[in-house]
Amino acid sequence: NQDLLSLSPLKDKTVLITAGPTHEPIDPVRFIGNHSSGKMGISLAETAAEMGAKVNLVLGPTPLRPTNADVNVISVETAVHMHQECEKLFSLTDISIMAAAVADYRPKKVADQKIKKADGGLHIDLIKNPDILFDLGNKKSATQVVVGFALETENGIENAIGKLHKKNCDLIVLNSPSFNTGFGKDTNEVTLINRKEEQITLGLKSKQDIAKDILLHITDHLLPK
Ligand code: CTP
Ligand code: CA
Repeated sequence: NQDLLSLSPLKDKTVLITAGPTHEPIDPVRFIGNHSSGKMGISLAETAAEMGAKVNLVLGPTPLRPTNADVNVISVETAVHMHQECEKLFSLTDISIMAAAVADYRPKKVADQKIKKADGGLHIDLIKNPDILFDLGNKKSATQVVVGFALETENGIENAIGKLHKKNCDLIVLNSPSFNTGFGKDTNEVTLINRKEEQITLGLKSKQDIAKDILLHITDHLLPK
């Protein structure tokens, strides 16, 4: 990666990345979560730092950490907490990349004590979490770049384009999990879709190489010249 280091294409840029899952507490010992490992977002953070950026990584609960000590890691548990940290950082951010698998809902009430097993089933009321990407995308200035991810199991392109416009992103990275890609895997295969709805498919490669391609696309095509 010496090529990227010497060119430092992101020198003087501040990058905000979300990664990993969120955990939404049900009671003191249980939560609602998902299988995100955070690998894709952590790779983006490491690569952006190698490219010379100042990087803030808002990271949900995962044992993985970036190897690059220059990445500022802000650990969070819940979507609300992740949203608060992103709000604090956004005004000073040039490039935001939302790679986290944010839980869409959280329990309406968190029980103070462990919920005891009783006869019959259990109903948990859920309320919607804030949509971090939607918020940042819809308040970005003309010089700020906001990139989202879309995780789809069907109608990928159509759904990803819908999210790109709704969340006012400059680029959306479509992920369709398969045997070699997705949660916990070291490789990924994604399609980048820009606001003109042009598609660029990045073939199966390591998450580091995907990260490099995404960041080079941003520096070459999305950052103000
Ligand atoms: N996202 C977010 N905050 C949320 C939910 C999603 O910032 N509360 C971001 C994700 O980090 C990702 C993008 O929005 O960059 C799309 O996430 P995804 O789960 O694919 O889309 P949703 O809008 O939540 O729609 P659905 O889950 O119904 O497909
Ligand atoms: Ca979602």
